[in-house]
Amino acid sequence: MSMKFNSKLFSTITTQTIHDDGILSILEVGKQLPFAVKRVYTIDNCIPNLVRGRHAHKETCQAMFCLRGSVDLLLDNGVKKEIVRLIAPNIGVLIKPRIWHEMKNISRDALLLMFADRHYNENDYIRNYKDFLVFLKKDVR
Ligand code: TYD
Repeated sequence: MSMKFNSKLFSTITTQTIHDDGILSILEVGKQLPFAVKRVYTIDNCIPNLVRGRHAHKETCQAMFCLRGSVDLLLDNGVKKEIVRLIAPNIGVLIKPRIWHEMKNISRDALLLMFADRHYNENDYIRNYKDFLVFLKKDVR
């Protein structure tokens, strides 16, 4: 599936780009990036057929960019699922809390850049899909 806009499951983030003798791709907190960044990490060198993610966060909000290569990002709110394919460094996806997500079809050369609005905390993860559905039901906001 190609990039989808205005979805309830996710929104895309488009960097500011400046084309000169190269391509400058810019993210500013409060402009393109809707949260203050507390953690940045990369994922690369993934083995073939690897599926990463397979979890949801209770509160952490993240943004994912694919700087090189390609990846399919599956997003699931417990009711519906969508897959967005990331193929360029200038368009990323906002992964809100309470969204189950999986990274699939990660190309061998893929370099993912992740931003998070809080520090790492294993207690913020829901790693079991059944627990995710239970969490969505009991934690009504
Ligand atoms: P995980 O978030 O499950 O990876 P992915 O979603 O890419 O499949 O993290 C993998 C391991 O790394 C897990 O043991 C937790 C640890 N980890 C940290 O210690 N700090 C971090 O910021 C992240 C993202 C993971």
